[in-house]
Order: sequence, then structure tokens, then C-alpha cells
Amino acid sequence: MKKSIIFLAVAAFIVACGGTSEDKTSTSTAVTASADAPDGQKLYKTYCVTCHGLNGDMQGNGAIDLTKSALSLDERIKVISEGRTGTVMVGFKTLLDEAKVKALAEYVEKLRK
Ligand code: HEC
Repeated sequence: MKKSIIFLAVAAFIVACGGTSEDKTSTSTAVTASADAPDGQKLYKTYCVTCHGLNGDMQGNGAIDLTKSALSLDERIKVISEGRTGTVMVGFKTLLDEAKVKALAEYVEKLRK
């Protein structure tokens, strides 16, 4: 008897999930995007600390003090993806996709004092 109740519960669960699967597909991109949102801080620690330092103010290799940078979000996205000609600040667009570059640009803003 107990077994059949569990079976029914499982069956109901499967039916319930099946019933909502249509809605799920329509929102799946949004859900995935937020779940996989790149971690700006982690990316920064991986790619940027060598010159900018953990707090953004190291100025290694002639880097600009990011805590004093006054660039807008769009300008930062451009510098991070395209780089700056004639400096060691290289573009990261071949390495990082748009979402990651944006996450970095947003993280750099947090370093500002
Ligand atoms: C090899 C050293 C180096 C690395 C690595 C590096 N940068 Fe830079 N960055 C520089 C230098 C040098 C400048 C200054 C360029 C100039 O003189 O205009 C700069 C400038 C910038 C600027 C422009 C600031 C302003 O106000 O003009 C931003 C934003 C920036 N870097 C972000 C990043 C981010 C984010 C990363 C990691 C993805 C990174 N940088 C990695 C050297 C580096």
C-alpha cells in the first residue's frame, strides 16, 4: 500500500513537471544567464591583478590607478575588450566573452574610492 502511494506521488511529480515544461523553455535563457553570470571579482583576480593589483591601485607596468579612473561603464567595457593602443593594456575580447567583460567593468567600478 505504502509503495503505491509513493508511486502516485512520483507520478504526480512527473506530470506536474511535464505540465510546466512549456513555460520553462520560454524563460530558460534568462534563468541560465543569471545562474551562470560571470563572477567579476574572480575574473579580475585571474586576469587583472598582475598590473592593477588586488585593489586596483597597484599601477604595475604603468597601469592607471583604477580607484581613480573616471571612465563610464561603456568606456571601461571598451578599454577592457579592445585594450589601449600603445600601452600594455591589451584587449581581452579574444579571451573573454561580452558577459565576462561586462562583469569585469562592473567590478572595476566597485574598486573606485
Ligand atoms: C599587462 C598589464 C595589464 C593587465 C594585465 C591589465 N591592465 Fe588594465 N591597464 C594597464 C595599463 C598600462 C593601463 C593604462 C593605459 C593607458 O596609459 O592609457 C590600463 C588601463 C586600464 C583601464 C582604463 C582606466 C582609465 O581610467 O583610463 C581599465 C578600465 C583597465 N585597465 C582595466 C583592466 C582590467 C579589467 C583588466 C583585466 C581583465 C586589466 N585592465 C588588465 C595594464 C594592464
